[in-house]
Amino acid sequence: MKPAYPLRPFLIPDTAGLQDLFAQSIEELTADDYNEDQRLAWVSTAADAEAFAERLAGMVTLLIQVDGEYAGFGSLKDNKTLEMLYVHPYYAGQGIGTALADALERIAAGRGATEIAVDASDTAVPFFEARGYAGTQRNMMPLDDQWLPNTTMKKPLGKKQDDA
Ligand SMILES: CC(C)(COP(=O)(O)OP(=O)(O)OC[C@H]1O[C@@H](n2cnc3c(N)ncnc32)[C@H](O)[C@@H]1OP(=O)(O)O)[C@@H](O)C(=O)NCCC(=O)NCCS
Repeated sequence: MKPAYPLRPFLIPDTAGLQDLFAQSIEELTADDYNEDQRLAWVSTAADAEAFAERLAGMVTLLIQVDGEYAGFGSLKDNKTLEMLYVHPYYAGQGIGTALADALERIAAGRGATEIAVDASDTAVPFFEARGYAGTQRNMMPLDDQWLPNTTMKKPLGKKQDDA
């Protein structure tokens, strides 16, 4: 049984907390799949607080706090792409990613989307496969002087949403 986590929308004062969560999530959870230079390049995409806040605010961004600590956040872009999904290592494996993905998929479906896509990190592919996403394309993303592989995955929405 997964606990029910309260979700709320991102607000500008959350920016520093989410920058920190983003960095720790990448540093610790993706280390088996991405080397240090790749992880640093990935982390640096949130280094500019103002740009990061603007990016999160421009999407449907939801977050979960547990005992006042930032546990995870996720963003839905253009009602069709799960653009970000990051869980703090301390809270990994406790259903936070599931709660965020469930909510963002429901919002997309509720607003009429029939499909949702994600460019899944190699770390997250098993997580999305277990949620019914299927890989459609392998990508190499240039970031600074690094190349980071990911997989575009898609899931139909609207049917059998709710088996949680
Ligand atoms: C991928 C991620 C968001 C999953 O979040 P989480 O809160 O740990 O996931 P949950 O606890 O909801 O796990 C749900 C299921 O997926 C499985 N799972 C999660 N991460 C997994 C992994 N790396 N490998 C295999 N299975 C995984 C869990 O075992 C769980 O299965 P269960 O329901 O049978 O117990 C998290 O690992 C993360 O932040 N990763 C680093 C950042 C990243 O790569 N983000 C994705 C960008 S697209």
